[in-house]
Amino acid sequence: MIKKLKLTNFRNFTKKEFEFGEGITVINAPNAKGKTNILEAIFMLSTGKSFKARREEESINYDCDLARIKGDSLEIVLTKDIPEWPKKKLLVNGIARRMIDFAGNLKTTLFLPEDLDLVTSTPTLRRRFLDTVLSQVDREYRRAIGSYEKGVRQRNRILLRIREENISRSNLLFWNQLLIKNGNYITERRREFIEFINSLNKCNLKYDSSAISEGRLEQYKNEEIASAMTLVGPHRDDFIFLKNDRDLASYGSRGEQRMEILWLKLAELAFVEAKTGELPTLLLDDIFSELDHEHRKIVLDSIGNHQVIITSADEHNLPKIKSEELKIINL
Ligand SMILES: Nc1ncnc2c1ncn2[C@@H]1O[C@H](COP(=O)(O)OP(=O)(O)OP(=O)(O)O)[C@@H](O)[C@H]1O
Ligand SMILES: [Mg+2]
Repeated sequence: MIKKLKLTNFRNFTKKEFEFGEGITVINAPNAKGKTNILEAIFMLSTGKSFKARREEESINYDCDLARIKGDSLEIVLTKDIPEWPKKKLLVNGIARRMIDFAGNLKTTLFLPEDLDLVTSTPTLRRRFLDTVLSQVDREYRRAIGSYEKGVRQRNRILLRIREENISRSNLLFWNQLLIKNGNYITERRREFIEFINSLNKCNLKYDSSAISEGRLEQYKNEEIASAMTLVGPHRDDFIFLKNDRDLASYGSRGEQRMEILWLKLAELAFVEAKTGELPTLLLDDIFSELDHEHRKIVLDSIGNHQVIITSADEHNLPKIKSEELKIINL
C-alpha cells in the first residue's frame, strides 16, 4: 500500500504531492499530463527500476540534475552529471540500501496497455515479466538474477578473449560454476511460478527452459567461443501460451490473446499474495480504454480489497466503479 507520493524534478513534475486512497484512486487527465509518469515513479519505489527509461537519468526533469521520488518510507534519488555521486540512491526510512534490500518492500502489479501484446512480443519481455514478479517476492532471486546477469557479461568477455587472444579455456571455470549455481536457482523459481499460474486453470503456459549445466556448456563450447556468447542458460528462456494444445501466438485471435494476458496478470496478483501474504497495489495504466465490456468486468471483479491506482485520459472509458472509497485526482 502506498499512501503518499512526493515527486521532485521527476519527469514533468517539478514539485508535486499525491495522496492515494486505500481502495480505488483514479488519476484523470488528458494526454501528456504525466499519468504514466506517476505510475513509473510508484513502480520504481516497488522494484528499484524503471519500466520506461532505458537510462534512468532520462526520468530526471530536463532542466535539473537531481530527482527525488518519495513514497511513505521509501525514497529514490536520481542524479546526472554530478561527479562522485551515485546515479541512483535507494533509501528505506532515510537509510541507504542495496537494490536487493530495497526492492520488494512495496508490492505492485503493473498493467500497461503494451502488456496486452505479451503473447506475441519478444522473449525478452516475457522473461522480464517473470523477473519482475519473482524479484518482488524473493530476495534470493534478486541476488541470483543480478549475479547471473553480471556473470554472463563477464563470461562473454572471456569467450571473446579465448577467441581473439587465445587465453586458456580454464578462465571459464569460475564463471561456469557461478552461472550454473545461480542459473539453476532462477530456472527452479521460474518453473515454480509457471506451475502456479497453470494450477489456476486459466492459462496454460509451457516453459521453454534453457537449462545450464556442465554437460550443456561442454556441448556448446566451440559455438560459444566462435560467437563469444553464452548460449545456454535462463537468459535464453521463454514460455509460450497454449490453448487446446496449440500455440496461442500463432493461432489465437487478438481477443483470445488479450484475455489470456488478463488471466496472466490476475495470476501474478494471486502469486504475490500467496508468496508474501500481502496484497499488491494494482497499477492500471489507462487499461480500460483497451478492453471490451467482458474484459473490463474480469478486471473489476478481481479488484477485491486491493489498493488500485487507475489512470484515465477519458472518463467515458472507465467502467462504473462502485466503491465507497473512490478517490479522484485531476491533474
Ligand atoms: N525528463 C523529463 N523532463 C520533463 N518532462 C518529461 C520528461 N520525460 C517525459 N516528460 C514529459 O512528460 C509528459 C507526460 O508523460 P506521460 O507519459 O506521463 O503522460 P500521460 O499523462 O500518461 O499521457 P497519455 O495519456 O498520452 O498516456 C510528456 O509530455 C513528456 O514529454
Ligand atoms: Mg500514459
